[in-house]
Amino acid sequence: MNIVIIGATSAIAKASARIYAERNESLFLIARNESRLVELCSDLKVRGAKSVGTAMLDINKFNEHEKALDSAAEFLGSIDIALICHGSLPNQQQVEINFKSAQKEINTNGVSVISLLTILSEKFITQGHGTIAVITSVAGDRGRQPNYVYGAAKSMVSTYLQGLRGRLFPHKVNIVDIRPGLVDSPMTAGMKKGALWSSPEKVASKIVKGIDNGKHTIYAPAYWRLIMIIVCAFPEFIFKRLKF
Ligand SMILES: NC(=O)c1ccc[n+]([C@@H]2O[C@H](COP(=O)([O-])OP(=O)(O)OC[C@H]3O[C@@H](n4cnc5c(N)ncnc54)[C@H](OP(=O)(O)O)[C@@H]3O)[C@@H](O)[C@H]2O)c1
Repeated sequence: MNIVIIGATSAIAKASARIYAERNESLFLIARNESRLVELCSDLKVRGAKSVGTAMLDINKFNEHEKALDSAAEFLGSIDIALICHGSLPNQQQVEINFKSAQKEINTNGVSVISLLTILSEKFITQGHGTIAVITSVAGDRGRQPNYVYGAAKSMVSTYLQGLRGRLFPHKVNIVDIRPGLVDSPMTAGMKKGALWSSPEKVASKIVKGIDNGKHTIYAPAYWRLIMIIVCAFPEFIFKRLKF
């Protein structure tokens, strides 16, 4: 299979790429940090990847998206799976009072993904097969006081994916919304870890399995589906008083 991974140097992306490398798949990695990209590329080749191509991209340079995805299509031929993984966890205090910071975070976590999906959709419609998978978050299921800017961006992507899924269904293209819970990765480095936390490797195995099985929405791990049903069930007059 031919797989393009955007935000390929993320901990969850790397763990997913390693699973695909061990299956001898061909990979094209897109990320902004050259040295990490080179290191990952060598690691995946050692692990068995059939071929590995790379392109540099700062995801907020929207006018460079098409070129990066064209390079992926040129390197891989057809694309069986596109996995979008980049993201950033904002400083909530800052994004609450500074719109420029909020806008940057919404661009990184939301608008950039929609730009990529617009380009990828056309390529996948032309091919007539494949899977487009995007890492969103359980944070998009309900707006919460400590992270509602991040949550709003992720929610925007999840809603977009629901509609896109219907549009691409007749073209035999599956759209997967991956919603991890708490993952121990560089993004959450400063946070205290507890029982609900997972490793990037565990989340990656759920992602790959879910894509293999043609799932639409993957809560990773699965218990987050139940947790979010409970979180969403709180009436607003109680929820607005909660600080978690
Ligand atoms: N960790 C969690 O608890 C958690 C929970 C739910 C959802 N998620 C989502 O899971 C995905 C992967 O996150 P992770 O946990 O694996 O964290 P991570 O290792 O910190 O990965 C985030 C990645 O996003 C990339 N990125 C950020 N801004 C970028 C930009 N402007 N241009 C290009 N790349 C950019 C970073 O690139 P660099 O490597 O160059 O810094 C990094 O590789 C994200 O979408 C995140 O929102 C994470």
